[in-house]
Amino acid sequence: MSDDLLNNISLDDDEEQLERSIRPTRLSQYIGQEQLKERLNVYISAAKQREEPLDHVLLYGPPGLGKTTLAMVIANEMEVNIRTTTGPAIEKQGDLLALLNELKPGDVLFIDEIHRLPKTVEEMLYSAMEDFYVDIIVGDGDTSRPVHFPLPPFTLIGATTRGGMLSQPLRDRFGIVEHMNYYNEDELGEIVVRSAQIFNTDIQANGAFELARRSHGTPRIANRLLRRVRDFAMVKGQASIDIDLVDYALGLLKIDHAGLDQVDHKILMTMINFYNGGPVGIKTMAANIGEEVDTLESMYEPYLLQIGFLQRTPRGRVVTQAAYDHLKVPYPNKEEQK
Ligand SMILES: Nc1ncnc2c1ncn2[C@@H]1O[C@H](COP(=O)(O)OP(=O)(O)OP(=O)(O)O)[C@@H](O)[C@H]1O
Ligand SMILES: [Mg+2]
Repeated sequence: MSDDLLNNISLDDDEEQLERSIRPTRLSQYIGQEQLKERLNVYISAAKQREEPLDHVLLYGPPGLGKTTLAMVIANEMEVNIRTTTGPAIEKQGDLLALLNELKPGDVLFIDEIHRLPKTVEEMLYSAMEDFYVDIIVGDGDTSRPVHFPLPPFTLIGATTRGGMLSQPLRDRFGIVEHMNYYNEDELGEIVVRSAQIFNTDIQANGAFELARRSHGTPRIANRLLRRVRDFAMVKGQASIDIDLVDYALGLLKIDHAGLDQVDHKILMTMINFYNGGPVGIKTMAANIGEEVDTLESMYEPYLLQIGFLQRTPRGRVVTQAAYDHLKVPYPNKEEQK
């Protein structure tokens, strides 16, 4: 279940269309991330006044916080076209050249999962980003020669859930580097209300707030849960979504009152039951619960750290007393056990 919530691989066509219909297209519709929006507004206005492309932008942060959406909003506000691709999809230098070659002056090239670009492609990006040209070698053996390719000035927007995995030279070439934060309950509530309007679904304020509160600080999850709760409302013949319906539906979806899903529970309970609450290294944890280290580090751990249920120590991750209390497990007196 939680994999369904967090990844979008299982979206069917209908869901994909819904997802597209609720994507904000202007900065003014983009809810939350207030300071980031304020700064972007300035950079965008200045670039437009100078009639120059916007500086390259790197967005990093946990999945589902609106990086792809923001890239599209930026292109829209700059009134330019956007080409979107992902790091692993650009296998060779030729693939990148083909993409760059199609850009018109000022256009945006959006590379999602930019930390997964092959090294040779990444190196080719350096000159493309810095001076808008690439040098490639054509032919092989005796006939090989370098060819200099000028490019139109463009804006690269890179997104990654793993800011720390980006090489320094690549990172340094982004003029605008922004971390996306989890959304607070009010912002998520607004997002839920906005999406419900687009879906023509009636939701009461207490229902929207409850959904927001249990959405992992993440707009994608808030929207996904809204769609599920809307299904329950329909089947139950309930005209308006209220807090009771949200509570009932999320209970069936195994989302607890703090918004934790089954994987979150598995992480915390494994640490508690087998490691007395930690410290546990991330690799040990991943092996124990059958998830990838990467998934744990980018998706689950940041939220558990943010709400204070996990703590990072030099010796590994530790479950906090707040988490024990939430899970109704007695907090061990670690001093006594030594
Ligand atoms: N600030 C926002 N206001 C309103 N809706 C938002 C906002 N941010 C994201 N959303 C909604 O949340 C969904 C997920 O956003 P998006 O796909 O942009 O996330 P992402 O950060 O690119 O995720 P990933 O890292 O998995 O690629 C979108 O459908 C979008 O409608
Ligand atoms: Mg994305």
